[in-house]
Amino acid sequence: MKARGGVYEVFVFAEELARREGLIGDREDIRHLASAEARAFFSSYSIAVGSTGNLGLSVGVAARALGFEATVHMSSDAKPWKVERLRKLGVKVVQHEADYTTAVENARSAAEDDPAVYFVDDEQSRRLFLGYSVAASELVDQLQTFGVAVDADRPLFLYLPCGIGGAPGGVTYGAKKVFGDNAHCFFVEPVQSPCALVHMMSGSEELVSVYDVGLTNSTEADGMAVARMSAFVATVMRNMLAGVFTVDDASLFRWLLLAHEVQGLRLEPSAAAGFAGPGFIVKHPQGRAFCERLKLSDRLRQATHVVWTTGGSFVPQEQFDQFLEIAQASRSR
Ligand SMILES: Cc1ncc(COP(=O)(O)O)c(C=O)c1O
Repeated sequence: MKARGGVYEVFVFAEELARREGLIGDREDIRHLASAEARAFFSSYSIAVGSTGNLGLSVGVAARALGFEATVHMSSDAKPWKVERLRKLGVKVVQHEADYTTAVENARSAAEDDPAVYFVDDEQSRRLFLGYSVAASELVDQLQTFGVAVDADRPLFLYLPCGIGGAPGGVTYGAKKVFGDNAHCFFVEPVQSPCALVHMMSGSEELVSVYDVGLTNSTEADGMAVARMSAFVATVMRNMLAGVFTVDDASLFRWLLLAHEVQGLRLEPSAAAGFAGPGFIVKHPQGRAFCERLKLSDRLRQATHVVWTTGGSFVPQEQFDQFLEIAQASRSR
């Protein structure tokens, strides 16, 4: 999920630099960005980012592929295998004994004083957001391939795992552009890290964090362990988002196991959150109330539910086996 945004922003920066320096002309093929000359030039620049893991992976991979130096500031939630993978690519990983918001703040201030450092700002970047939004046009193609129509009688529900809000916000933005009022986008968050939920519920202009309401921000869903959502995304989402609901960690593992057994999918816990969506809409009083309010209740039979499974294909086998073990142990309890 984070890959679209991270790769897009790194490539846009590379293109901008290359055009400014005359390395590629106005109409010249973008593939020249991968030339030896361009790589040598990019090596004097560095790209920095703060991340719980997956944005760091996508920015690190894209930056190194083009020859940039890269530094990823990781929060304490970051999984060791993600750190390892980045280090193997030659990315400098700074591990903070702090949460994601602090990791981003540190990354931002480390980048501020150095003109050779480009900072990918997960809290504010429009480029990341636009990169994520492209997923909606890929969804259009997929739905067409499967002969799935979306219109007023056949609504589309999207269930999007949410950390800081950028990736699910970008997808929502794209989906609303393409499907308009026929798309209903929900963010899904861990019970202890529902930063979008607490902020949206507060109605406040000032960001409200999960700590402000006594939650711990502690979850196995590392990508979603974010205490304070993006202010920029909150503003854009205010009139676009259908709703936000939470899912507990045990359910994430249960869905992860089921998705593996039934569909052969390989997910990480964060990526399994969307599976809670259809149950929320059909069974939960708030989900049902939403459908009543929008007069969708009698159209649910023709509705399409899209569970956005956002990551996991890079998870090493050993780590994935551990996820399955945790899920199996709780199933047999
Ligand atoms: C697997 C996965 N899903 C969802 C998200 C949420 O994206 P965002 O933080 O932009 O809301 C992340 C974030 O890292 C993630 O790693």
